[in-house]
Amino acid sequence: MHAGHVLLSILLVLLALSIVTLVAHMPLPQSFFASRPPHLIKNTGIDLTGAGDCVYSNGRWVRDAAAMTAYREDCPFVDPGFQCITNGRSNSSFRYWRWQPDRCQLPRFNATEMLERSRNGRIVYAGDSIGRNQWESMVCMLAAAVPAGKSRIYEKSGKPLSKHKGYLSMVFADYNLSVEYYRAPMLVMIDRLPAGSGAIKGAVRLDVLPRHADRWAGADVLVFNTGHWWNEHKTTKSGNYFMTGTRLNMTMDIKEAFRLALGTVTDWGTTNARLPNSYLFFRSYSPSHYSNGTWNTNGSCADQRDPVTIIDQFNEEYPWINAMISNAVDGMRRQRGMRAQFLNITYMTELRRDGHPSRHREPGTPLDAPEDCSHWCLPGVPDTWNEILYAQLMSMGYDTRTK
Ligand SMILES: *[C@@H]1O[C@H](CO)[C@@H](O)[C@H](O)[C@H]1NC(C)=O
Ligand SMILES: *[C@@H]1O[C@H](CO)[C@@H](O)[C@H](O)[C@H]1NC(C)=O
Ligand SMILES: *[C@@H]1O[C@H](CO)[C@@H](O)[C@H](O)[C@H]1NC(C)=O
Ligand SMILES: *[C@@H]1O[C@H](CO)[C@@H](O)[C@H](O)[C@H]1NC(C)=O
Ligand SMILES: *[C@@H]1O[C@H](CO)[C@@H](O)[C@H](O)[C@H]1NC(C)=O
Ligand SMILES: *[C@@H]1O[C@H](CO)[C@@H](O)[C@H](O)[C@H]1NC(C)=O
Ligand SMILES: *[C@@H]1O[C@H](CO)[C@@H](O)[C@H](O)[C@H]1NC(C)=O
Repeated sequence: MHAGHVLLSILLVLLALSIVTLVAHMPLPQSFFASRPPHLIKNTGIDLTGAGDCVYSNGRWVRDAAAMTAYREDCPFVDPGFQCITNGRSNSSFRYWRWQPDRCQLPRFNATEMLERSRNGRIVYAGDSIGRNQWESMVCMLAAAVPAGKSRIYEKSGKPLSKHKGYLSMVFADYNLSVEYYRAPMLVMIDRLPAGSGAIKGAVRLDVLPRHADRWAGADVLVFNTGHWWNEHKTTKSGNYFMTGTRLNMTMDIKEAFRLALGTVTDWGTTNARLPNSYLFFRSYSPSHYSNGTWNTNGSCADQRDPVTIIDQFNEEYPWINAMISNAVDGMRRQRGMRAQFLNITYMTELRRDGHPSRHREPGTPLDAPEDCSHWCLPGVPDTWNEILYAQLMSMGYDTRTK
């Protein structure tokens, strides 16, 4: 072969190799879009599910002495019922676990960063008391980074935090930010009938949102949750029947009712003119851990084994709830181009039976009262949910200063 040809071949091989190397190092389309400023990704229908290419829902808990979040249970926004050490729990080892996703790191929650990116914004949680649990966690995580101290954080209209009906709005004055919680255990309206109306105590109005829902609109971040009330005990067996329009339906099954209620929420979400720029999250079911009975039959959280030593069976209650929520979120994102995310925390939470208040619940609880194996001690498991929320927001370029 001619020397010139050999040289040319070598050059061609080198060229080909460098192209291959270049392509291999190019960012994936998903992370490329995810790192763009938010005004470029609005309503484009781009799939943002993966939060980069990390799947946070699957992984394991790792013992980590430095894992505890930057607040303590004496944070003034923690309900007495979640202050487990104050209520007599002696072992705080449940706090020192870090969630390790399978193929990536969960970024550390940076409260200053979150506050800066939320300036002039509104972060809204709407759901049941476990949603309130998560809201308290977020308020405390953010409060830990407010240099001027807690006095610069207050309830907007002076409501006491002991109020468990309606809503609460915590203002972070230095950031003109409010972090709000709306009590909406079923996400749709529950109408109580006057006492003495017989066997019918109330109606779960599947096609009507709660009275305060107009305030959800315009939120920059909106975190929905529901789940624990979608069972017979909280509905038909306690006299709360499902209703559509003006008709009470005494026989409708729970799954059908849940599907209709979820449709009401997503229809509202996709047609509301003040929501297209919002980041919508639907949190998945938070498992409870009763054994030898349930929440209303003297069940207990029983053993408090470490998360690494226990893999529970998935409870039969929630796979269908999660599947319906996840489908609804897919629909909002794919068909309507909304920034909706399924915050799938069920598996990681299933492993944390050690994180419940159990019998260290609110002061004054009678000794023979049922244990609380539904809610979570704070600081605790909901901090991790909020860390994932944070990670997903960051990967989508969340920043209210550029909205
Ligand atoms: C939630 O995440 C777990 C763990 O990755 C997974 O097994 C489950 O299928 C997910 N649920 C849904 C509805 O996607
Ligand atoms: C606290 O609980 C952990 C297991 O979760 C155990 O290893 C440890 O020995 C306990 N500490 C005390 C002081 O009981
Ligand atoms: C947290 O965010 C702030 C503001 O963006 C930044 O100055 C600081 O370095 C961050 N802290 C850490 C530990 O990354
Ligand atoms: C505070 O934020 C609201 C939006 O939530 C905005 O309308 C208002 O102008 C802001 N106030 C100041 C002083 O920036
Ligand atoms: C009640 O709902 C079920 C669906 O779960 C439906 O088949 C039935 O016709 C409804 N009954 C009335 C009286 O509307
Ligand atoms: C289970 O509950 C029954 C009846 O309430 C009680 O007698 C029994 O001691 C409980 N067992 C355990 C292991 O807690
Ligand atoms: C729960 O326990 C209390 C006292 O230990 C008892 O009086 C009550 O009947 C029990 N309730 C159920 C549903 O087992």
